[in-house]
This record gives sequence, C-alpha cells and structure tokens, in this order.
Amino acid sequence: MKNILIGVCGGIAAYKTANIISKLKKKGHNVKVIMTENATKIITPLTLETLSKNKVVVDMWDVNRGYEVEHISLADWADVMLIAPATYNIVGKVANGIADDMLSTVISACTKPKYFALAMNVNMYENPILKDNIAKLKKYDGYHFIEADEGFLACNVNAKGRLKNEDEIVEILEDSFIETEKTLAGKTILITAGRTEEPLDPVRYLSNNSSGQMGYSLAEQAIKLGGNVILVSGPTNLTVPKGLKEFVQTRTALDMYGAVMERFDGVDIAIACAAVADYKPKVCAKEKIKKKEGDLVIELDRNPDILFNMGQKKSHQVLVGFAAETENIIENAIGKLKKKNLDMIVANDAHVMRSSNNSATLIKKDNSQIVTGEKSKKELALDILNETVKIINK
Ligand code: C5P
Repeated sequence: MKNILIGVCGGIAAYKTANIISKLKKKGHNVKVIMTENATKIITPLTLETLSKNKVVVDMWDVNRGYEVEHISLADWADVMLIAPATYNIVGKVANGIADDMLSTVISACTKPKYFALAMNVNMYENPILKDNIAKLKKYDGYHFIEADEGFLACNVNAKGRLKNEDEIVEILEDSFIETEKTLAGKTILITAGRTEEPLDPVRYLSNNSSGQMGYSLAEQAIKLGGNVILVSGPTNLTVPKGLKEFVQTRTALDMYGAVMERFDGVDIAIACAAVADYKPKVCAKEKIKKKEGDLVIELDRNPDILFNMGQKKSHQVLVGFAAETENIIENAIGKLKKKNLDMIVANDAHVMRSSNNSATLIKKDNSQIVTGEKSKKELALDILNETVKIINK
C-alpha cells in the first residue's frame, strides 16, 4: 500500500483520472489529489474528493488548510507522484523551474519519483519545445514520462496525444513499487523471446501466436535485478527494453539458433521463452508462389531445437525452458525438463499466448513444483527469476 499523490492538469483527459484514482483505491493505495485551476473547469474536485476519500487541493492560499505548510507536507507524504493528464504547460513549467501554483510547487518540492502521463493535442505533442523540456527533465533523477497513445483526440483527429489507457498507467505505477534487490548483479542472462517466421516465399511465412510479452517481461525484470541481459528476439511489436547488454533481432529458428549458440558459453543463465517453429519449409521459393489448380503440398524440414542444444552444451549454466501445452500440461513439461536437461521448466497453458496475464507451474529438476496463481506476465517474470536465482545460489 503506497501513498500516491496525483496531480491533475487542465486537459480533456482529466475525466479519465477519476478512473485511475478509483482503480488505485481498489488496489488499497492511499490517494491524494492536487488539481490545477484549469483542471477544475473540466472535472469537479468533488468527484475526485469522493473517489480519493481525501480533500482535493487546488489553491495555495486556501485559508481553511490548517497550520501545515501544505506543499511541503504533501510532497513529503507521497511515495510517488503521478501527473495525469500532464499537459504541455506543466511539463514546460517544471522544466523551467516555474512553481506558480499548488501543483507546480509541490512537484518542485517533491524528491520522490514523478510520473508524467502525457496527453495533449497532437501538434503540441510533436512540438520540439515539449521534446526539449522532456529531454531536459530526464537528465534529472526521478522524472519519468508515460507516452501518449495514438487514438481519436478531442480535437477530432486520429493521432498521438491520447492519455495512455488507465490500466496501463496503474500498472506502470505499481511496477515502480516492486522493490528489487540486485540479485542478478554480475550475472549474464540470455533470454529468447517472441516467435519465429519461416518463409515460404518472399511474402509468406509460417509462424505462431506468440506476442513476445513474457520474454520481454523477463528481460525487463532481469535488468531491474541488476543482470547483464542479452535478449535474442524473433519478430514482435514490442519496444526493446532499455538497459540491455545486447539486443539481437532474429527472424527464423535458424537465425535464433546461431545467435544463441554463439553466445551461450559466456552466459550464467539462459531462459528459452521464444516460441520457435519446429519445422520450416524445405525450400523458400525465390518468387511469390503462384496459385494453381488442385492442392499445394509444402514439405517441411525439422528446425534445430535451440533449448535441447543448449542442454547438451551446458556446463555451468542454469537453463530454464517453457512448456506451453494444450493438454497434460504438467506431465508433458516434466518430460521436456528431463529430455532437454533443464534446471527448471515453466509449464503453462498455450491459450494465454496473447494475453497479458498468465499462471504457471514452475517445476524444478528435483521435482519440486510451485504454482504461481494468475498474475501479470511482469509479476510472473519476477517469480521465475527469483526461483532461478535460488538455483544459481545453491
Ligand atoms: O519441445 P517444445 O518446443 O514444446 O519445448 C518448448 C521449449 O523449448 C521452450 O522453452 C522453447 O523456447 C524451446 N524451443 C527451442 N527451440 C525449438 C523449439 C522449442 O529452444 N526449436
């Protein structure tokens, strides 16, 4: 349970902040709210007061506020600040040392992490002055920016500038609370993630449903734990995590195999999370395959099993695999753990491939099993890494 201080600026998205406050309260956090004068023209303090169960502060000179120096006491009270929506104006003021109302004054007096969830008209969002101001603030400790999403804006255009989805903002804040000891300091961790694409011709390929979220979450959490992380990734739509030792983009299973084997000797831990195609077309046609009468038969060759090969080569490395199954989940996973010479396998239901939540059973070489229960892929990633650390420290 954290003390979350929310700053609301005068953007149309201010009404969405009501939802953010309600979600944070439901999760058991304490919430206090500061609004700018302009924000009160869009949503009433009464709404946010009712949801946060605390008096909303707007005016620096409110005579009813008692004897505390409020901008200092609020700044001290907060474990974290969220400014949502964060307008062009508030970013400009903070970046230039202006503290001329309650919100800008509290931000300037607050030494805790501050998250600015940006939302504004697309031209303001693209304005280089905003970009300069953000770049300037990022040089200082504790200033974080939650990028706006693309979508239909209040100014009637479909463009970037919409406040990020409320659930994602809540998730970003909660993530920032995960206290992580640097248990992977000095360790090199190789993670495979995403799907592979096995081309049939220049425009077609065989692939699968993997989004890459689980592998990318593992990479992000391993970085937080202080590890040197090498992410070998097939195609995904995800942003490459910041702070990697190395990012290797691959496409086919063979590419991924080459990238992994080249690096395997130098790693302490390898986690194979990628959904690798077991087969690839025997030939990849040089030109687009033409439609003909009758059926088309495609001959397939086996791809190398990357994880199996790591298991054969393993010396000191701790090796973790995944078993995404549609039936007999645990039995099949134990079979793979043995066959591939793994230290741990994460058994889960293959149907969760594109969802952001997951629940899994972590099965170790000694047959012990941990059932995680349903949680976000980020939380699950942390569980997997914590168990891996226990194995490496044995
Ligand atoms: O045998 P199966 O493909 O079900 O095993 C899944 C595990 O093996 C996953 O950890 C996956 O990343 C890995 N794997 C691999 N190379 C393959 C196939 C699977 O590394 N060609």
